[in-house]
Amino acid sequence: MKYNNLFKIGALMLFSLSNALADEGMWLPLLIKKMNYVDMQKAGLKLSAEEIYDINHASLKDAIVNFGNFCTGEVISNEGLLLTNHHCGYEAIQSQSSVQDNYLEQGFWAENKSKEKPTPGLTVTFLVRMEDVTQEILKNLPSNASEEARAKHIETVSKELEKKAIDGTHYTAEIKSFFEGNEFYLFVYETFKDIRWVGAPPSGIGKFGGDTDNWMWPRHTGDFSLFRIYSSPDGKPAEYNLNNVPYKPKHFLPISLKGIKKNDYTMIMGYPGNTERYLPSAGVKLTLNQSNPMKIDIRNLKLEIMKEHMNKSSEVKIKYAAKYAHISNYYKYFIGQNKGLKRLEVVAKKAEQEKQLAQWLEATNNNSYKNLIPQIEKTYANLSTVNPVGIYLEEALLGSEMVLLALKSNGVYAAIMDVKDIKNNVVIKATLDEYSKTCKEHFKNYDFATDKSISAATFKKYYTDIHKNFHPILFAEVEKKYKGDFEKYMNAVFEKSIFVDESRMNKFLENPSSKILDKDPGFKIMRSILGMYYGQLNGYLEPLNNNLDSLSRIYTKAFMEFNQKKNLYPNANFTMRLTYGSVQDYFPQDAVYYNYFTTLDGIIEKEDSTNEEFRVPSQLKKLYTTKDYGRYAVNGTVPVCFISTNDITGGNSGSPVINAEGHLIGTAFDGNWEAMSGDIAYEPALQRTISTDIRYVLFIIEKYAGAKHIINELKIIE
Ligand code: ARG
Repeated sequence: MKYNNLFKIGALMLFSLSNALADEGMWLPLLIKKMNYVDMQKAGLKLSAEEIYDINHASLKDAIVNFGNFCTGEVISNEGLLLTNHHCGYEAIQSQSSVQDNYLEQGFWAENKSKEKPTPGLTVTFLVRMEDVTQEILKNLPSNASEEARAKHIETVSKELEKKAIDGTHYTAEIKSFFEGNEFYLFVYETFKDIRWVGAPPSGIGKFGGDTDNWMWPRHTGDFSLFRIYSSPDGKPAEYNLNNVPYKPKHFLPISLKGIKKNDYTMIMGYPGNTERYLPSAGVKLTLNQSNPMKIDIRNLKLEIMKEHMNKSSEVKIKYAAKYAHISNYYKYFIGQNKGLKRLEVVAKKAEQEKQLAQWLEATNNNSYKNLIPQIEKTYANLSTVNPVGIYLEEALLGSEMVLLALKSNGVYAAIMDVKDIKNNVVIKATLDEYSKTCKEHFKNYDFATDKSISAATFKKYYTDIHKNFHPILFAEVEKKYKGDFEKYMNAVFEKSIFVDESRMNKFLENPSSKILDKDPGFKIMRSILGMYYGQLNGYLEPLNNNLDSLSRIYTKAFMEFNQKKNLYPNANFTMRLTYGSVQDYFPQDAVYYNYFTTLDGIIEKEDSTNEEFRVPSQLKKLYTTKDYGRYAVNGTVPVCFISTNDITGGNSGSPVINAEGHLIGTAFDGNWEAMSGDIAYEPALQRTISTDIRYVLFIIEKYAGAKHIINELKIIE
């Protein structure tokens, strides 16, 4: 039955996608010319391969940045103006917000450059060049090296190559593994540190639809925010300084107002974070049946408690806005991923792939592939016995902010232990200063009561669900002294610990001693957790993970040999990639059709003044009522979002959607519900990238915010 249904959707889509081309794949810019260029031209691309990636002349890659090591952004003016998503700028926006100046709620637009807000800690990184270094890395590696020896060899050679690559420059270099350890590439980067916030719409636009619409189409979110890169007067990266000047980019993206229609060529360049397209069926099963259900369960618990506290206080609401969004984003992701894995029968499809591979391996008679698939299955079966402990450790125990802050104090402890004259020791002073900074940041967004409730609940959950053998030793005390009542236990911990109260912490920092930490109940529980990790868990986990690393490398190598004639792309690993496809509608389920774009009219349709997620800012409603759309009007409304077949994942957020001429037409911000299994298997009939139409971005800047000076900075093609 299900296969049948699937076939129906597939057939329908084949029929309607007559124009669609190879949309799957996150390609390395360096290899585009060799692997994809002909195909891209057929699909409609008008640029040369060199106009996309070139190391001697300005190319598209010079306008694309890694934004803060978690998102993507693009340069859109000659003065270093940067476009990314609202949800990528969210932490910066949240941390500048207070009950008085609530930028989350009201938005913010700097009237001129002097009003732009510094964002300490935020960085923006350009790719200078990349290079295949597989040969150099693997050259002297014995084929029978143990996993540890292999890792060591790779690290040593990588360090040498990285050093050589940036000699005499202010760049940084990084070598990363591709195809699960079968290939290696070197990346040279330039990182800017003076990044200022230029503007963002209110959440009623930038996060319109909230968690309800998150990961879903049809969508009506103006998910964008603006920043600016500053450099020293000579154009080099520099720490924040009033003498710094707007960065002059090698390239910036011109913006097209021509709009989109079905089948139009689209490409996206950016930094996809993580995919598992080469995961064997046994690994998919573990994710589906064990990891995801556990993560969903624990996150649900944390979110409920957090929400309760946020609803009670507007201050807590601002403090926890970004933390909540962070947890709930992937909470919903895991739910969707499991739905997708089931509906699209990914385990069965992978198993079929493996069967074919196994037959071919049998025929090749290569000894290193002997029993490969059964070995993989056995290792995953073994992993499933301790995998829950790892998940609960990360999601439940480390869900306590108190524990996290205590964990970060380990360096301080090591530095001051056994030292008599703490005050006059420069090394200790540096460590303490660093930790003070961490604490200041931490307490800025901290709420004692919220953390206490969450800590009690997640610890209790760990205690109840995880086998005694993996309980931190301190749990025995909770049993004895508190009769297993984790609320009572946390009450006691929170009454004393320096990790839950800023003034207690400051007092410690003024007069630090390792004795204070030894006695601190928060420090003790953190140590007890570490003790469990190193004493009980890691002895099982590490060998299994090493084994899996080695098996998945061999499996992927076999897969690559089996598919020799095909162009394969590596899993995402937060290096720059390009994906090309086209604007397409889709059929999410039997008898349901989704068009490929949404409009302002749809925002008004969704409006619900009683639901915070669907409140429409009054100024936007006014523009709607007066139809004051200017040059952004299309058929009596304004385009808002659109979908295309591009292959993206988390990390791509904020990536530019670029048309066949190399002009910006949108900013990508999400994937869609029906293809949430996409990080494991791409599904051509259903998988779509959701982007905010650049015309909506400009409409909001010009008509909603009246920020004409920003519009004037752009190169707009009408
Ligand atoms: N799902 C989007 C992503 O992971 C984030 C969207 C943010 N919006 C929200 N309602 N949380 O990139």
